[in-house]
Amino acid sequence: MRIDILSLFPRMFDAVLGESMLRIAAGKGLTDIRLHDFREFASDRHRSVDDRPYGGGAGMVLRPEPVFLCLESVLAGRDPAPRLVLLTPQGATFRQETAESLAAEPGGLVLVCGHYEGFDERIRRGFPFTEISIGDYVLTGGELAAMVVLDAVTRLVPGVLGDERSASSESFSKDAGLEHPHYTRPRDFRGMKVPDVLLSGHHAHIEAWRRREAHRRTRERRPDLLPRGGPDPSHS
Ligand code: 6GU
Repeated sequence: MRIDILSLFPRMFDAVLGESMLRIAAGKGLTDIRLHDFREFASDRHRSVDDRPYGGGAGMVLRPEPVFLCLESVLAGRDPAPRLVLLTPQGATFRQETAESLAAEPGGLVLVCGHYEGFDERIRRGFPFTEISIGDYVLTGGELAAMVVLDAVTRLVPGVLGDERSASSESFSKDAGLEHPHYTRPRDFRGMKVPDVLLSGHHAHIEAWRRREAHRRTRERRPDLLPRGGPDPSHS
């Protein structure tokens, strides 16, 4: 999957792209991540990407021209066209279903990171963006949000996770609440013991315990994730 990222600070992505799952996915050729600096498309003498807002007020606004030129160069000749994503606190909140939908885009993705106090409204009007926010708090720019989207989408690209089951049984996937607790060695760590059932080798009992614990955890911490009127494994 090809993902183009448009940013004023493309080097912010180096650390995240250079480690762990994102690095391995790119190394296997499963993702093709391309960074673009829209300052390179600023044509005026000072290469300015921002300016003061018409009507006055504090802060600077991203100018339309560098963003339009950068996007047009990224989109030229693309068929199928990629999905255009604008990272902005005014967007719809990013969810696992959003990640699933983005990961299925045949034309790949273009992530545009906003900055400064905002961007000229004609950027939003000029392209059919899906606008995404990662939550109700203020970030300095869209870069960290784009990294969150990049991570959540990449791990859903077929072949990136060795075991396809691990993406579908985990928290927030369709019909799943939070995950059950996990344990590894040792059996007794500073007096805290691994539950006997996990050592029993009895797979049906282990599965039943995991379902029960997952449901308990979801009920205690995130009751909003429980399907209303659904079965309650803690009573079965
Ligand atoms: Cl996408 N951008 C900014 N600047 N702040 C945010 C955000 C995005 N999502 C949550 N806060």
